[in-house]
Amino acid sequence: MEKLVIEGGKPLSGNVRIHGAKNAALPILAACTMAEGVHRIGNVPDLLDIHVMLDILRALGCKAELKDDVVSLETSSAQSSHIPEELMRQMRSSIFLMGPLLSRFGHVQVYQPGGCAIGERKIDLHLKGLQALGAKIEESGNTIKCSVDRLRGTDITLDFPSVGATENIMMAAALAEGVTTISNAAREPEIQDLQNFLNAMGAKMIGAGTDTITIEGVERLTPRAYRVIPDRIVTGTLMVAAAATRGSVTLENVCPAHLTSVIHVLKRAGVQIVASDDIIHVSNSSRPRAVERIVTSPHPSFPTDLQAQLMVLLALADGISVVKETVFEGRFKHVDELSRMGADVRVDLNSAFIRGVPRLYGATVEATDLRAGAALVIAGLAAAGTTIVEQIHHIDRGYDQIEIMFSRLGAKIERFSPVRHLKVP
Ligand code: EPZ
Repeated sequence: MEKLVIEGGKPLSGNVRIHGAKNAALPILAACTMAEGVHRIGNVPDLLDIHVMLDILRALGCKAELKDDVVSLETSSAQSSHIPEELMRQMRSSIFLMGPLLSRFGHVQVYQPGGCAIGERKIDLHLKGLQALGAKIEESGNTIKCSVDRLRGTDITLDFPSVGATENIMMAAALAEGVTTISNAAREPEIQDLQNFLNAMGAKMIGAGTDTITIEGVERLTPRAYRVIPDRIVTGTLMVAAAATRGSVTLENVCPAHLTSVIHVLKRAGVQIVASDDIIHVSNSSRPRAVERIVTSPHPSFPTDLQAQLMVLLALADGISVVKETVFEGRFKHVDELSRMGADVRVDLNSAFIRGVPRLYGATVEATDLRAGAALVIAGLAAAGTTIVEQIHHIDRGYDQIEIMFSRLGAKIERFSPVRHLKVP
């Protein structure tokens, strides 16, 4: 398996352009199946998860191509609504294809996506939402069959503001008969991007970004060209890396308004941040301050997807910080790996107590999931000595050539493939 080799201790500096948001592009690509014809979706990052989604769309009969950062997608030829189990296993979030395929074909077959390193990842809220819209759901083993004559609008209240469930219900309701309201909806920027795309195709939807979304069903949707928002989690990852290496970095093609809580926490840690339009400048010249308490929570609170990365900065801070993870029950897998690099972190249930140390030291560590892997790269960049990060396929799911991104900012980081025993160009 490929690995990253990092010579730490070099402050990051320079400019880098942030790629499009994986978690906006995925539901938007799924929504394309609701309108027959050719879609052109821009600012789509070249990531493993995107390629899995394109493979799923091809398996359904679509023609799909990613060239530069534009996906051309012909959906008229789609004739199946059976998502292959192998592909579902590769990317659990393909579950939000249920809504679009159900509204297009009246039936869909998927498989229980199962848990992953960060938690159980249940889908009960997705299924309850589709059932409320009139779908019949049959589960046998890990197969889920869903069918309906015509989806009918209704009022739905989510027990938890699930991002995926909100997206699935929005897409299913777009072509339903009548009006649907989603209460306690997720408020993430990716939800707003999905609403904007669906409305561009002719849907009638308002409220995304608030906790109540109202959807008036329409008869049909029309294919569109669209450009996906920047990736706020990749942006936040680079902000933390700049701060942890005591560097000075300018991030381009970003949306500061999507990162208000992250900017607030980093400023509390003593990091200098200047944000305007589509630029964020991050610099830090001294040891970070501890932040006494951070709680991850649905947007607009501090995002769970940046918890592991922030922990690296706090592991180097002057003092004790406490991070409480309230979204996923298993999202502290990076703690053991950081401890091997000299971090002093104690986990008790869903809280991590981080006593800052003056320095981290290079070690061989293993990425357990996407964002934990990104955190280990940041730790390697900040540490003294050499760090080897293994199982980096996890990282490639959400970061387009992470080593290139950091090399452009002055980092000494290389990708090695054991097959060729050579540096990957
Ligand atoms: C999306 O996952 C993101 N993925 C995740 O990003 C992100 O961490 C998460 O939202 C929270 O912001 C994509 O958008 C592709 P949820 P999703 O449904 O939709 C529970 C990354 O690193 N839940 O909001 O799966 C669930 O178990 C990834 O890019 C139910 O109980 O997240 C979890 O504890 C990781 N029943 C919590 O809600 C359900 O039916 C949040 O899940 C659905 C969810």
